[in-house]
Amino acid sequence: MSEDRPATLTQLAADQVVKTYRRGAAPAVAGIDLEIGPDTALGIVGESGSGKSTLARMLAGLETPTSGRVLLDGEPVVNLLRSRTGRSDLRRAVQYVAQDTSSSFDPRRTLRDSVRLPLLRLLRLDRAAADARVDEVLTSLEIAPALADRLPRNVSGGQRQRFAIARALVVSPRVLICDEVVSALDVSVQGAVLNHLRRHTVATGCGLVFVSHGLPATAFISSHLLVVQGGRAVEHGTVEEVVGSPRHDYTRTLLAAHSGPGLRAAS
Ligand SMILES: Nc1ncnc2c1ncn2[C@@H]1O[C@H](COP(=O)(O)OP(=O)(O)O)[C@@H](O)[C@H]1O
Ligand SMILES: [Mg+2]
Repeated sequence: MSEDRPATLTQLAADQVVKTYRRGAAPAVAGIDLEIGPDTALGIVGESGSGKSTLARMLAGLETPTSGRVLLDGEPVVNLLRSRTGRSDLRRAVQYVAQDTSSSFDPRRTLRDSVRLPLLRLLRLDRAAADARVDEVLTSLEIAPALADRLPRNVSGGQRQRFAIARALVVSPRVLICDEVVSALDVSVQGAVLNHLRRHTVATGCGLVFVSHGLPATAFISSHLLVVQGGRAVEHGTVEEVVGSPRHDYTRTLLAAHSGPGLRAAS
């Protein structure tokens, strides 16, 4: 949160992270390095089952690496997870939004209550200050305030997804991790959500990790791309480098699957 942080400083890093879910099974993530700074928007692309969510969840501290480390400002995330303050610091700094929001909201709370909760618990704001901040974020995401008084089951999947993003952004995280957040949305809504995410992260210098199996949306929102296949990084560079001159056959296959107008049309 300090203003004097050099722009190039790494906030969140993965150092040779490996995740093996079952002994003897092939690792879901097989040794990946990456760095996310304040102005990095890292797109992680790859086919289904390539280890994207496992990697994203390790970055968020929701999954423990079998080996290797995830570091927040140089501090191993496993250390932060050991104490209450450490966990709270991690949750303020790094927020994760999952694809499936059907079970990620308390069904008995209104959406406003759910979005407000991290402000009360993590930032210890009083109720009035928290409500003002909730309104600010809902407005910036163009969510009609009246919707916030509904229960999660009484809004559409697309609307719930926006509330999930609002709940993540409300604490002003330094890194936002979005795991296939637009994949289930209608194409018309996808563009709006992507634009909001991009505008917000650029305006606030919030680092972004954007996980998707779709290359166009990822290339639109990202500054850098990491292409994963079978838990390994097969390509890692700026969007221009990876899309402009892919080095790996797998990346060319991904690109070919999405060739045609629209790949970077909105950038
Ligand atoms: N909780 C889990 N337990 C066991 N295996 C898992 C678990 N989560 C993911 N996997 C396996 O790890 C591999 C990578 O999955 P995942 O990270 O979800 O990939 P992606 O998000 O790219 O689709 C898959 O083979 C998947 O079946
Ligand atoms: Mg996934």
